[in-house]
Amino acid sequence: MKLAPSGGPAARPVTRRAIVAGGTALAATALIGCGRTQTSAAGRDGRLKESRIGGQPFTLTAQERPISIGANTGPTPAWLYGDAPFPVYRMRLGESLDATLTNRLSEHTSIHWHGVRGPNAMDGVAYVTQMPVQPGESFNYRITPPDAGTYFFHPHCNTAEQLGRGLAGVLIVEDNVGFDDDIVCVLKDWRVGSDGGFLPFITPEGAGRGGTFGPLRTVNGMVAPEIQVPPDANVRLRLLNLDSTRVSDIGVQGAQASLIAVDGNALTPFVLESWRLGPAMRMDVALRTPQAGGRIALIDYFAAEPVILATLVAQGESKQRNASAQMLAPGNFLQPDLAIAEMHELKLSASATPTDYSGLAPIVLPDGKTIDLLDSLCSNAQTLWAIDGKTWPQNGHEHLPPPLMSFARGTPVRLQLTNTTPHVHPMHLHGHTFKVLSASKLKRPEHWADTVLVMPEERVEIAFVADNPGNWMIHCHIIEHQDTGMMAWFKVA
Ligand code: C2O
Ligand code: CU
Repeated sequence: MKLAPSGGPAARPVTRRAIVAGGTALAATALIGCGRTQTSAAGRDGRLKESRIGGQPFTLTAQERPISIGANTGPTPAWLYGDAPFPVYRMRLGESLDATLTNRLSEHTSIHWHGVRGPNAMDGVAYVTQMPVQPGESFNYRITPPDAGTYFFHPHCNTAEQLGRGLAGVLIVEDNVGFDDDIVCVLKDWRVGSDGGFLPFITPEGAGRGGTFGPLRTVNGMVAPEIQVPPDANVRLRLLNLDSTRVSDIGVQGAQASLIAVDGNALTPFVLESWRLGPAMRMDVALRTPQAGGRIALIDYFAAEPVILATLVAQGESKQRNASAQMLAPGNFLQPDLAIAEMHELKLSASATPTDYSGLAPIVLPDGKTIDLLDSLCSNAQTLWAIDGKTWPQNGHEHLPPPLMSFARGTPVRLQLTNTTPHVHPMHLHGHTFKVLSASKLKRPEHWADTVLVMPEERVEIAFVADNPGNWMIHCHIIEHQDTGMMAWFKVA
């Protein structure tokens, strides 16, 4: 079965001449050989540093660390959870996570575990599920994730800057499927100039349109890295788009690849032509590697000219196992009964006027604390976007808004996300995994996700059972859109 679910051209011949690597035109010879610039992000094999944490307490210290990225002349003052960007933590399904965030930044922060259906008090949203973790303070997160998957974590206030400076990590909850190798690839652009210094994370032109792009594209913190893979092996590639802005259209050349999971959730595998991966979205790909010396290109077809993001190079001992398709176990999500589902249409729109929320009742945190004011790190000076006509509060108007929706626990919910803008919006719900039922433009098979792209002028229908009690965010994951109004919360009680 061959599907082109992204709706892109079915078979795209990519000539070497037409390909650019890392956004820079390269001669054909550059594709065969020639080491790429290393940074402190990943090891020499192109992999991120991984730790196994199942059950073991671990610490994430948010702090500024200078790193070098690409061919920049100076260091980049990154904010990281460790000594390098994107630390990967692996645990098995059923194990518990026990992470202590220690804040060594000069401003408050918190950790949101994106996609994990954890308890509300562990969701890491300042002023909504916990108090912000102030400089010098610590906060302990304990979650037993109910689903296997490919997750990540990041802060939730001043996100354009905190995530933009590199505050993100990867959380893998493993199932029992045996691959010969399991490789994490984090896609992220950096808003840095050639001197390594950061450029403004929010620009008026970008925030009001598709977002502000980072000029330096990386995979695992490196520009077009070479990643070593075993030859003749069944390999699982976990691709995470941790960029704040860029939507990519991901394909693989040089091996037959199947899409096996979206946002870490198994789907019926199909041959990957390309899959559109917006900010915060993840895709798991199964592929068979070539013989030693063979090369596989990871390509973004979204740009006018396809871009090689990374190259997998088959090296070392061959595995020579059967090339059998790997089937992941389906997730344990409650099936929403569409016949009785509560239906809401949510319009995604531009809005220059912040909603007036004065005189509203305060929110009560999971620990019973009452909150009635946000601070300026968690609200923006400008409003540009709205969900269903409501905006996240603007600075100087810092009451929390009322919930956009409230559901009795167990309610099946059907949401129609209607994009009235000429820009794409990757919409994310906290605390729940939803089924993507249909979309009016970009064809996708029915699948489970926590973030879904809503294309310009598109109508996307999703459904889920509101079974996780608490106050949960719903927002666009183009961070400038989130930070300038396209954010709200809903209540499950
Ligand atoms: Cu990764 Cu509220 O999101
Ligand atoms: Cu958006």
